[in-house]
Amino acid sequence: MNTTRPHLIAPSMLAADFAHIQRDVALVNASQADWFHIDIMDGLFVPNISFGFPVMKAIHQYANKPLDVHLMIENPDRYLAEFKAAGAAIITVHYEACKHLHRTIAAIKELGCLAGVALNPHTPVHLLKDIVADLDMVLIMSVNPGFGGQKFIDHTYTKIRELRQLAAGVNDKLLIEIDGGVSLQNAAALLEAGADVLVAGSFVFNSTDPTETIQALKAVDINVHTV
Ligand code: DX5
Ligand code: ZN
Repeated sequence: MNTTRPHLIAPSMLAADFAHIQRDVALVNASQADWFHIDIMDGLFVPNISFGFPVMKAIHQYANKPLDVHLMIENPDRYLAEFKAAGAAIITVHYEACKHLHRTIAAIKELGCLAGVALNPHTPVHLLKDIVADLDMVLIMSVNPGFGGQKFIDHTYTKIRELRQLAAGVNDKLLIEIDGGVSLQNAAALLEAGADVLVAGSFVFNSTDPTETIQALKAVDINVHTV
């Protein structure tokens, strides 16, 4: 049987124009995007600082779609409740930043958010074996986290396939999100490998017509062969 699996598009607000943030939120609201991707960086886990609660709250005030919050911060447990209060619908923490990942995931769910774990490019998928059943989403970094506009790492395809296999029969609803260097050049191949959510920052906001670019990413069609 041939079925087409719907996929989600999450424009990364890191690439938006912060001097016109309300305009760019309105653009995403009116587009075919599914989520707002919100990148939080602490200057410790990654060599960059993005923005914090005041900016996120400003986005949330005008956003009419879920905020997908990607925490690139050390020891995220300290701030989970504040991120929920600032409007997070999905909270993703980094595997590499959590000593007690099972506890962190439980805390995110207790707040009423969907819970995700992000993997850096060097972190193997099999390390999620004993937590994959508890997750709503896994974010596979397809660049080293910290900056927009970097080159996509091809090994990502292998990781998506491995993760789909790891989750099979244990968590078939698991969402796989890809973040970094996503464009129309690799979108179809990513979906074919098993991705569900595509994050795109510079490809969307640096394009001449971001609304049209979002639409084009949403329209990428693949046939998934199921038996
Ligand atoms: C990078 C961030 C990404 C970034 C993606 O650390 O997690 O979400 O905004 O930007 P592009 O799509 O430009 O690679
Ligand atoms: Zn991100």
